[in-house]
Amino acid sequence: MKDISAIRADFPILGRTVYDKDLVYFDNGATTQKPKCVIDAATEVFTLYNSNIHRGVHFLSDMASEEYENARERVRSFINAGSREEVVFTAGATASINAVAFSFGERFVGRGDEILISHLEHHANIVPWQMLCSRKQAVLKVIPVDDNGEIIFEEYLKLLGKKTRLVSVAQVSNALGVILPVDRIISAAHSMNIPVLVDGAQGVQHGVSDVRKMDCDFYVFSGHKIYGPAGIGVLYGKAELLSELPPYQGGGDMVKNVPFEKTSYNDLPFKFEAGTVNFPGAIGLARALEYLLSLGMDNIKQRERDLLEYATQQMLSVKGLKIYGNSPEKISVISFLLKDIHMYDTGMILDKLGIAVRTGTHCAQPVMDRFGIEGTVRASMCFYNTREEIDRLCAGIEKVISMFS
Ligand code: ALA
Repeated sequence: MKDISAIRADFPILGRTVYDKDLVYFDNGATTQKPKCVIDAATEVFTLYNSNIHRGVHFLSDMASEEYENARERVRSFINAGSREEVVFTAGATASINAVAFSFGERFVGRGDEILISHLEHHANIVPWQMLCSRKQAVLKVIPVDDNGEIIFEEYLKLLGKKTRLVSVAQVSNALGVILPVDRIISAAHSMNIPVLVDGAQGVQHGVSDVRKMDCDFYVFSGHKIYGPAGIGVLYGKAELLSELPPYQGGGDMVKNVPFEKTSYNDLPFKFEAGTVNFPGAIGLARALEYLLSLGMDNIKQRERDLLEYATQQMLSVKGLKIYGNSPEKISVISFLLKDIHMYDTGMILDKLGIAVRTGTHCAQPVMDRFGIEGTVRASMCFYNTREEIDRLCAGIEKVISMFS
């Protein structure tokens, strides 16, 4: 893998200071920083070939359409989808889940049916299902988690039943960093012919995600959490399933023929891409994926595992620090609280020391309720972070403790 200083130099923002201190960016779970190639992609689109995709016969439109479809191919191969028809561009993971909740819900969910999620979900994988259940008088069921933040698998098996229409789970908990056993979740659901949606928002950037190997029916993620732009995301769906679903938005490009009597819809994936899609975002996302591939996903995983081990060891030696999510299967996230010190005080003092962490419920209030807390401080690290930055975090935490003692 490239040397760490060369990697950091690829991310211009990492060279800046805040409050006259070198920035330590540990809020990668909320959004990741962008390498120069992604920043340059936006400039290239707008200076060289900005034009609406799939609409014109002119040079610029052709070029924009080609770059956009190349981006789709890049995503396809990155997640190993079987075909480009299975890769729909959306505004993000949230939009993708809402699309499935609406579209799959319209087609397959009725009164008394059940949707199964876990207690670890982000609000984006809770609220769309609550909305669907209230529309259809269906029932939302929740897989419980243990004190380490791992789902209780036997309870999951008990919740799967004849009425379960869909299982929708995170690949990784955004609040705790715990990795869910999606392979086992999927094979148990499939043994009862129940499809599974995997929310890859916090998983896809931390290692190889192969949708065919995983055998998930839907997979969603956001561009901005994988070093690409905001406002672009992906909905992968198995072609046979997507082709059975009705579109969830109507408009240009998703149609074949529009007489007033009855419109016929476009083929996959365009049926689900009404209106002008964020094509500069898709092109930027493809650049981000190319950048990650140039580093090597396995190298990224290894580097992040080392950072997690080091950070866990160092932070556990801080007196009064409690980590939430103690599963051995984790990505490089540490969610913690300091005894008797409010999370916002911790976050604000760390900020003044130049260290960006996230504080609060992390849009996963049920996880916090499960542990009987209001929220946590979350340090989410990624491959461009360093051990020196972890040392600065620990020194910052010691300072917080000394200020409050
Ligand atoms: N879902 C994002 C996070 O976990 C915003 O911080």
